[in-house]
Amino acid sequence: TKKAFIFDLDGVIVDTAKYHFLAWQKIAAELGIEFTPEHNEELKGVSRVRSLDIILQLGKMSASQEDKDRWLKQKNEDYLSYLVHMDQSELLPGVLHILQFLKDHGQPIALGSASKNARPILEKTGILPYFDAIVDGNDVTNAKPDPEVFVQAAKLLGIDNTHAIVFEDSVAGVQAANIAGMTSIGIGEESILKEAQYNFPDFVHIDTSFIEYIIKK
Ligand code: G6P
Ligand code: MG
Repeated sequence: TKKAFIFDLDGVIVDTAKYHFLAWQKIAAELGIEFTPEHNEELKGVSRVRSLDIILQLGKMSASQEDKDRWLKQKNEDYLSYLVHMDQSELLPGVLHILQFLKDHGQPIALGSASKNARPILEKTGILPYFDAIVDGNDVTNAKPDPEVFVQAAKLLGIDNTHAIVFEDSVAGVQAANIAGMTSIGIGEESILKEAQYNFPDFVHIDTSFIEYIIKK
């Protein structure tokens, strides 16, 4: 049967989660707010605007809209500066193999990302043609854990939520998939992605027999 395979972008397809972290850390440092990798887990999958609010909350700070807008702009410019030289080598290990396997088996593929920078990243890494549908931060109003982004993606593929499979590296994204009644596959540390139905450290550890099993299920 046809399933909808929905991929998150940052931290699942490309190793950009580290760039988001570096860019936020710079802002936090300027504001004198301690911001650790543990804090950063809360920001994964979360929109840019909401991420800044979380950082300000960490520092028990409030700020004017004007300041916030400036920091948001600064964060994105800094983040984009890391992407200038991005190419296929920044794809996470094993991702391309799985995308190709799904294509070869006629399975619909979608992107479900909170990022507003998703398209240029898919272009730079050369994998845009694999995607039958793209839903990103420009298309949704509700951030993960709200399932809007994944629900839209499944709808565009014409597949029922119960037949959708979501690959996610963030807690918020796993929760979004679960709320939508989709199959959640955590990519990363199991101790963090406890709520995922399946968990793999990365795509290298996903055997194609597992994908075949999911397709038949
Ligand atoms: C992804 C990342 C988040 C990021 C969000 C918005 O979900 O995991 O860290 O904040 O996208 O991305 P953007 O590129 O629009 O700032
Ligand atoms: Mg992610």
